[in-house]
Amino acid sequence: MIEKYSDYLNKNDRDVIICPSILSADFAKLGEDIDLVSNDANWIHVDVMDGMFVPNISFGIPIVKAIRPYTTLPLDVHLMIEDPTRYVEDFAKAGANLIVVHAEACKHLHRAVQYTRNFGVNVGVAINPGTSLSVLDEILPFVDMILLMTVNPGFGGQTYIETMTDKISKLRKIMNDRNIFAHIQVDGGIGKANIKKVYDAGANAVVVGNAVYGTNDPVGAIKELRKCLA
Ligand code: DX5
Ligand code: ZN
Repeated sequence: MIEKYSDYLNKNDRDVIICPSILSADFAKLGEDIDLVSNDANWIHVDVMDGMFVPNISFGIPIVKAIRPYTTLPLDVHLMIEDPTRYVEDFAKAGANLIVVHAEACKHLHRAVQYTRNFGVNVGVAINPGTSLSVLDEILPFVDMILLMTVNPGFGGQTYIETMTDKISKLRKIMNDRNIFAHIQVDGGIGKANIKKVYDAGANAVVVGNAVYGTNDPVGAIKELRKCLA
């Protein structure tokens, strides 16, 4: 298992990190679907939903534990849950490598980020499409990644919100100006038609659900996505 992300944090590394979202995989054979993409993907994106923060329920800690043996890739766990610090220790123990909390779900965002770090994982902060970049001002020096939602969270297969491209560029500029070399991950509605656009805007980690697992050739789909960036 990969233990740390620092290799990915090299500021000169502009290799895109492709993160298939298992929300679009076949839940009856998750292990198989994860193993299938493990030679070609970079991280496995795990969407945890509580039916409160988002209007959908997906899966939780036992599933993370169950899938852990099926890949050596980092598990990138996106917590779409209220007050996520209640569970970050359990997710870390279950095998998460990167834990992402939503700014909107934390009363004390700085405390939540520092607390999550105690469990030996990398930490990201996500914001919804309707949330301003300004909420990130104080937290940027403390994170390994910012996740910009490019759809409203809760469901796979939605359409990319076009105004998010400008938001990605603005965030990368803010980070560059402040010498902060964290990842920018985008999540929602990304596929062959727009992966180059989000990458050129400054995103270096891309979540792909439907565009990978919604096809009958997930491995071929990942290769195609990389070709779009060549
Ligand atoms: C949405 C999730 C996404 C989702 C993306 O709330 O956070 O990770 O799986 O799926 P696509 O790529 O199909 O939009
Ligand atoms: Zn996600």
